[in-house]
Amino acid sequence: MSREPPPTAGLPLRLSDLWPGRAPFADQVATWLGVEQLQLECSGTSAMVVALKAMHGLRPQRDEVIVPAWTCPLVALAIHRAGLKLRLCDLAPNHFDMDVAQLCTLGNSRTLAIVPTHLAGRVADVNAALDVAHRVGAYVLEDAAQALGARQNGQSVGLLGDAGFFSLAVGKGLTLFEGGLLLTRDPVLRSAFAASHQANVHADAKMDWQRALELIGYALAYRPSLLPLAYGRPLRKALAANDPVAAVGDDFGPDIPMHTVSDWRQAVGARALPRLPAFLEVTRMQALRRVERLRRIPGVTVFDDAPGQQGVWPFLLLTLPDHARRDAALKTLWTAGLGVSRLFIHALPDYGYLRDIVADAQLPNARAFAARSLTITNSPWLDEATFEAICVELERATI
Ligand SMILES: Cc1ncc(COP(=O)(O)O)c(C=O)c1O
Repeated sequence: MSREPPPTAGLPLRLSDLWPGRAPFADQVATWLGVEQLQLECSGTSAMVVALKAMHGLRPQRDEVIVPAWTCPLVALAIHRAGLKLRLCDLAPNHFDMDVAQLCTLGNSRTLAIVPTHLAGRVADVNAALDVAHRVGAYVLEDAAQALGARQNGQSVGLLGDAGFFSLAVGKGLTLFEGGLLLTRDPVLRSAFAASHQANVHADAKMDWQRALELIGYALAYRPSLLPLAYGRPLRKALAANDPVAAVGDDFGPDIPMHTVSDWRQAVGARALPRLPAFLEVTRMQALRRVERLRRIPGVTVFDDAPGQQGVWPFLLLTLPDHARRDAALKTLWTAGLGVSRLFIHALPDYGYLRDIVADAQLPNARAFAARSLTITNSPWLDEATFEAICVELERATI
């Protein structure tokens, strides 16, 4: 394979982004989003730990966090690291969002926060979470790790609830290789987040060097000619070893680095940022066309925006009618180097390495979603002919 698109549409870096410098990166992102302030952290996970510790400090009698049962395993690790307990909410049938009826039964006087999650750039139902949270006295912390730039009625996600965070990890629209941004509309939470950062986050020269080298590697390798080596080869090796968790990079260790972000990485992000709005618009237009095409395949559900929502489009998230047909489609597509992949392999209790911190539960919809979903990259490097070939393969698999 000589060329391969990445599994998500990340903004490519230019070598000129890498010159030395310093810039108020978080303030510049805040200006673009139209939000008052953003707090920079070294990852989305770290931002979540900082936020949860702050919330727990304000409401110490509460120690449970409700999350969708199908989400990034790092969310479970962050809640554990913050010294809190996970409560899993099943998904709504054939949807990535939480089941509202179950959410209502889960909220109680121990609930510290509810975490609606804007997966795949789609806007989750924050109002349903707010209804429950405010009835029981909990916070709503929006997980917008996959949704930097997404809006509802003109307002950035992360401001719909009490607080939210974005990820700047590899593969997200804008990346510092790793990074996170925390936001809130509540001045009490804002000063609690700043104090939590002071208490929990420290400078780490070794991590600065590591991330700097990783970011340079990303700038060099994030191009279709090098992705077969940097992304495709490890993916196909993991799949050949029957390890889908490693194939999608879901295999996380318990360590959560919590350090400051160097001035230089902030400067790199600040130089790339002005190109992000146009990139998001190009990927949005491409996605809207492709969603229409996918809709014509019987049995395929593809997630898009409800009226008033303007999400972002790193990749297209879809489900097939059942596990067997999803696997039939992936059998050829996953290893073919076309940007077709999966998001999270399991519902949270089904990751072996989370067993000690996530209790098993009846989660039929989350497990069905894990078994029926797949993703198609929305990178502009996936050309029309290749996208059409993916659709034809999906048509064949869903017959
Ligand atoms: C839904 C979700 N939440 C949280 C995270 C954690 O963000 P980070 O990788 O920046 O630590 C991710 C990472 O991809 C994610 O997809």
